[in-house]
Amino acid sequence: MVKTPFQTTIVNPIDVYPVSLQKLISRLQQTTNFTPAQVKDFVLEADISEQDLMFWADFQHPITDSYGRKLVFDGGHFEIMVMSWLPGDFSAIHDHGATQWGAVQCFGAAAHYIYGFTKGVLRTLKPAHYTPGMVCTVDHNLIHQMGNPGNTPFLSLHVYGCQEFQETITGNARIFDLLESRIQYTDGGVFFCLPETKINHHSSGLKADRETTLRQHYLMSDRIERILRIQQNADLEKRLTRLQEKIEQLSSP
Ligand SMILES: [Fe+2]
Repeated sequence: MVKTPFQTTIVNPIDVYPVSLQKLISRLQQTTNFTPAQVKDFVLEADISEQDLMFWADFQHPITDSYGRKLVFDGGHFEIMVMSWLPGDFSAIHDHGATQWGAVQCFGAAAHYIYGFTKGVLRTLKPAHYTPGMVCTVDHNLIHQMGNPGNTPFLSLHVYGCQEFQETITGNARIFDLLESRIQYTDGGVFFCLPETKINHHSSGLKADRETTLRQHYLMSDRIERILRIQQNADLEKRLTRLQEKIEQLSSP
């Protein structure tokens, strides 16, 4: 992601931010050793509205990006970001790099699935859908996926932190790609069908249960169909065919 001067500087006086965000930033600057539950409380206490975040809205994001993503504040040991979710926008299944503590506040009724990953197998643990304004915690082990299944765009606020300074807290995050049965590591958005240039490296041998695989295949197919409606891409056309074949196999008794 390209960082603008406004977004990157940690010496920027925080009074350029809405008062609610100033409150959150001040809290997070106090120390580096928070629990996810404390960060959730800080977000709730800050009483941030969706309107406060509109400066960072990105509803014009490229169709190849699975959602809009803007850095709000880089605090060295924490990052605050705003994601923009158009109807149908979904992240890939992912974790959060070096993140040790954090919280996400969602201003719409986001679909949200939490996954477990043991012995190389990914499983859907539980749906944990958001109601508007709800805040969920983030810890180092969280593997999840969220998106907008409705008809109205909305924003979400994301806080990711760790106990020491990191260039990017969420750098080298894992994306679980069940079409290629591999884990991708990326420093950017956790999007479907990332170009190879955005993938640091892979690890192979990923497996998943049927429910998880079908959900991922449907959501990836949907993203590819949206892309192909406005641009040609032979590689994505092949991928879509493979996805449709796999969905058919998994759907048959
Ligand atoms: Fe996430």
